[in-house]
Amino acid sequence: MTLRPAVPADLTHLRRWDRDPDVRGSLVDSDWHWDTELHKNPAWREWLIAEVDGRPIGFIQIIDPEHEETKYWGCMKPGHRAIDIWIGEPDARNRGYGAQMMEQAIERSFAEPSVHTVLIDPLESNTRAHRFYERLGFEFVVRRDFHGDHCCVYRLRRPGLPAPN
Ligand SMILES: CC(C)(COP(=O)(O)OP(=O)(O)OC[C@H]1O[C@@H](n2cnc3c(N)ncnc32)[C@H](O)[C@@H]1OP(=O)(O)O)[C@@H](O)C(=O)NCCC(=O)NCCS
Repeated sequence: MTLRPAVPADLTHLRRWDRDPDVRGSLVDSDWHWDTELHKNPAWREWLIAEVDGRPIGFIQIIDPEHEETKYWGCMKPGHRAIDIWIGEPDARNRGYGAQMMEQAIERSFAEPSVHTVLIDPLESNTRAHRFYERLGFEFVVRRDFHGDHCCVYRLRRPGLPAPN
């Protein structure tokens, strides 16, 4: 499994993956405006495509929530990253690729020395995803409503850091 930057030519599979019931059921905001956003490359965001043997299987977004333009996470202090992930090809799920995608995304996030915490916000109903994140070392922080969607916020602190207050 390798991650590479998303490009406009990824539009076809990103749109197809949007229609997958498991992906749809897991997303807070289902309109990602792919056709326009794939042409942009803001400093606060990385869009990555996971490929296995050259076949695109999934998507991962890493944002800096302090600078993300819609302020989805509210007013954030520096030092965070937030990740969204999905595997759009059903036959590529449950094979360990998601764990590899997250491990690489976490490594990319902590490669920036000022980043101390990685956040994720699965829907409260997506209990399989909760287990997936817990196995990766994420800890539950709080239940939170994002624009009416009931989510669970989890965090992963940089290894070796003391627990925050
Ligand atoms: C969640 C997801 C990224 C995990 O990647 P994966 O490659 O399937 O996961 P792995 O093979 O590394 O690990 C298997 C675990 O993934 C989780 N998982 C597997 N299929 C899943 C699905 N359809 N929905 C949610 N979680 C799933 C489960 O925790 C599973 O372990 P379990 O069988 O003990 O419950 C992937 O399944 C997926 O994209 N699911 C649909 C969209 C989604 O839920 N995204 C997360 C939004 S917060």
